[in-house]
Amino acid sequence: MDLLEAIRKRKTTNTPFRPERISDEHKRLLIEAAARAPSHFNSQPWRFIVIEDRERIAQIADIAGDSMKRLMDDGAFVARYRRYFRFDARESIAAGSGIYVDNVPAALRPMVRLVFSEPVGSLLSKFGVSTILGNDQRNIVRSAPMLLAITLDRQEYRPGELSGLYASITLGAVIQTLWLVTTALNIGMQFISTPLEVAANKARIVALLKIPEAHELVAIFRMGYKDPNAARNTIDWTSNQRKPFTELAHYNDWETPLPEPLASARSLLWGDGEAPAEP
Ligand SMILES: Cc1cc2nc3c(=O)[nH]c(=O)nc-3n(C[C@H](O)[C@H](O)[C@H](O)COP(=O)(O)O)c2cc1C
Repeated sequence: MDLLEAIRKRKTTNTPFRPERISDEHKRLLIEAAARAPSHFNSQPWRFIVIEDRERIAQIADIAGDSMKRLMDDGAFVARYRRYFRFDARESIAAGSGIYVDNVPAALRPMVRLVFSEPVGSLLSKFGVSTILGNDQRNIVRSAPMLLAITLDRQEYRPGELSGLYASITLGAVIQTLWLVTTALNIGMQFISTPLEVAANKARIVALLKIPEAHELVAIFRMGYKDPNAARNTIDWTSNQRKPFTELAHYNDWETPLPEPLASARSLLWGDGEAPAEP
């Protein structure tokens, strides 16, 4: 697969994977490729934990499910992320960002907007949404053949300081490399952020993975070979849309829009009619 094809095809996979383990060659390639990422002064502050032990994956799955439910029940998730939720295709296209919640059980559909916009989390429990999302999260993590945790050396990762920014930049480069290489190998990849958002649950995972004090757990992913026939989650979303090219970039200074012919230059990423279906 060439680079542009991998960039075109890279997507979050939030559906179940095929059950087989990722081959050792592929695991090695993923870590070696990720470690080619640039880092400030070649500091290489990231470490990776490849998790295939079923018992440990099950424990992390329970923690992830519990985290999702808790974040929903106390309203933290909706309060934090409400502005990213879209509930109809037109709204999603107009915004060019966020996630479009397009798969919702029929019984919930009439009130989904209300449920996700309500700052008081109790509504979410009332309609059973937090339980559905918590169960989905647990099941999807539990069934993954592999989880990958990434840590950053705290000597480099000092939030609020320049080195904190630099460590975050190199982490981003590592993650994008992983995402493109997994795409080339037909491996799906999904961020599992919720356990890192509940301090007590993050601590449980740090203990479970025996991460030393000198390193900070910064990301967890689930990975596995893609299953084209996988069923969608009970409540699910898509995020194909992107902001227009001319909104994303400026020319020479912030106040100057991209001039012609650059503004309407032909896309080399998407051929005619090849852009992702909207939304
Ligand atoms: C820092 C970060 C955290 C994310 N956390 C989650 C997550 O917890 N669950 C999830 O399914 N996707 C997560 N994502 C994926 C984004 O939702 C996704 O990249 C975005 O909607 C665009 O979709 P795409 O990756 O399919 O292009 C995260 C992405 C980033 C960069």
